[in-house]
Amino acid sequence: MITCAIPTGRLGKQTLELLYNKQITETLIEPGRQLQIHDNTSNMTFLFVKPSDVITYVTSGLADIGIVGSDIIEETKADLYELLDLNIGQCQMIVAGFDEKTYQESDHVVVSTKFVNTAIEFFKNRHQTIDIKKLNGSVELAPIISLSDVIVDITETGTTLKENGLHIFDTISKVSARLICNQASFYLKQQPINTLKERLSL
Ligand code: PRP
Repeated sequence: MITCAIPTGRLGKQTLELLYNKQITETLIEPGRQLQIHDNTSNMTFLFVKPSDVITYVTSGLADIGIVGSDIIEETKADLYELLDLNIGQCQMIVAGFDEKTYQESDHVVVSTKFVNTAIEFFKNRHQTIDIKKLNGSVELAPIISLSDVIVDITETGTTLKENGLHIFDTISKVSARLICNQASFYLKQQPINTLKERLSL
């Protein structure tokens, strides 16, 4: 039996469709508000957790494997095995704002983001010092009400940026969902995990 941490939200929906399309499960799982579901077809237990918590469940060993965006892997730098790029949840990590001159020319920039470590590393390489305003959501609001000069955030369709009048100044990375595994499960449950990985990569 394998326990898998599934992210809730947009990526969760795509993940469950992927499991169904690859015939890992016989029926499309509809978790509703249930947070733990056992699926008899695959002999897998699914835990439905916040995307940013998938890594915590997998590193703690309570989940053997998990599905999580590469944005979160990069941000946490957790000691995990990345088994497969699932080619879902594709989006971009970007820098956006209104005033590109401040971003391009100032020595010091105020940055709002959920991705603090990613922002620190990116601006360090640009030789700009930053003041970070850590937010947990609705990041695009920050430059509008002058909390920050720019945001570091993910964009998928571009709708949120467009509807808030923000412009992309830089692309930091391309993001997609990855299948991750903790080291102990990788060795102890090698056979079922490899079988699952192979089926997902077909
Ligand atoms: C994410 C991200 C952007 C939005 C981008 O937020 O932080 O705000 O999606 O998507 P788009 O380019 O398709 O418009 P999320 O939906 O996770 O909500 P949040 O603001 O609560 O973090």
